[in-house]
Amino acid sequence: MNFQLTEEQIAVRDAARDFAQNVLKPGVIERDNQQRFPKEEIKQLAELGFMGMMTDPKYGGSGMDTVSYVLAMEELSKIDASASVCMSVNNSLVCWGLEAFGTEEQKEKYLVPLAKGEKIGAFCLSEPEAGSDATSQRTTAIDKGDHYLLNGTKNWITNGGSASIYLVIAQTDSDKGHRGINCLIVEREMEGFQLGAKEDKLGIRGSDTHTLMFQDVKVPKENRVGEDGFGFKFAMKTLSGGRIGIAAQALGIASGAYELALAYSKERQSFGKPIHQHQAIAFKLADMATQIEAARLLCLKAAQQKDNGENFDYASSMAKLYASQVAMDVTVEAVQVHGGYGFVKEYHVERLMRDAKITQIYEGTSEIQKIVISRSLLKD
Ligand code: CAA
Repeated sequence: MNFQLTEEQIAVRDAARDFAQNVLKPGVIERDNQQRFPKEEIKQLAELGFMGMMTDPKYGGSGMDTVSYVLAMEELSKIDASASVCMSVNNSLVCWGLEAFGTEEQKEKYLVPLAKGEKIGAFCLSEPEAGSDATSQRTTAIDKGDHYLLNGTKNWITNGGSASIYLVIAQTDSDKGHRGINCLIVEREMEGFQLGAKEDKLGIRGSDTHTLMFQDVKVPKENRVGEDGFGFKFAMKTLSGGRIGIAAQALGIASGAYELALAYSKERQSFGKPIHQHQAIAFKLADMATQIEAARLLCLKAAQQKDNGENFDYASSMAKLYASQVAMDVTVEAVQVHGGYGFVKEYHVERLMRDAKITQIYEGTSEIQKIVISRSLLKD
């Protein structure tokens, strides 16, 4: 493996770092307090080409590789994980899924505005009783000849309120199990679509997570992604790539908290010296830096495997499992290094600690990643 970054990758990382510091940071505490979606900031991310980073330029994207995406996700997530999850879902779950499996017409109509960031997409799999157990879909998409009749409720949908294009996973034929599931492209304007309640969350409070309701929504047949019955595999393949983005988000949350703790440990004096000169603090910093470096290598390995066209399911789950644990461990320690200051909002680390937890839950819990990893280890 060669992790020597190219000039282009370094430029992307630096652009993301500047953007995070200059555009995201000034309002991040207020957006978190007010649970306000970073609408203007996402528009500016789109202008940088970050909403369709990996999409082919012929479909409005920037044509960058997954390594660049990981680098950008890390930098943005150091400051604002609410903005970065919006970008991650749009890139990995929506644009990538449409580019890999959509028809030419679907790409022209939906992928182009999504990759340009003119529209925001959402990925709708989770239901009240189908989060981890993704085959147990209660939402139905009944085949009516020229259209599907969509009925049901989706929960915890990232970008739910800001999106206008939704990839909805639904059951067409329950007798066929996972082979009876389809993915449909639903437009917000379609009759019968209803935006439900916004969640009041522990972390990523700037991200607008909603319940969505579908009541007799007529979705044209041409809006099905892939062959009839491909919906479950579509979701699995898409989530596998998405997990690289969330792993990079977790990495960014951890490294953001570490950088704050390191800086604070040099400023803050106790017992007559800067606190990093106390071994208790220096050892914490050493542990944090080591964990972060290991998480970064796992993220880059998964990204590189995806870029090389290799199977990356195992690597993406491993990166997400480990990086999300590191995000929790490091943010808790960063608050500890800050002492009482770590417990107040002004110092940013308490927000990073709250944001870290979701990385162990969405796009597959840590337990789901262990299922994917162990099945891969034990398959022969
Ligand atoms: N790629 C391609 N095919 C895959 C696959 C993959 N990565 N994973 C599974 N499949 C295929 C299998 O090969 C199998 O196909 P065949 O029957 O033809 O052989 C089929 O799919 C069924 O697979 P399993 O029997 O392994 O399915 P399972 O019911 O045991 O579930 C699971 C496996 C890994 C637990 C899966 O259900 C899963 O990943 N669950 C978690 C879902 C998830 O991540 N939810 C989060 C919601 S989305 C979100 O959070 C987005 C957001 O807002 C940020």
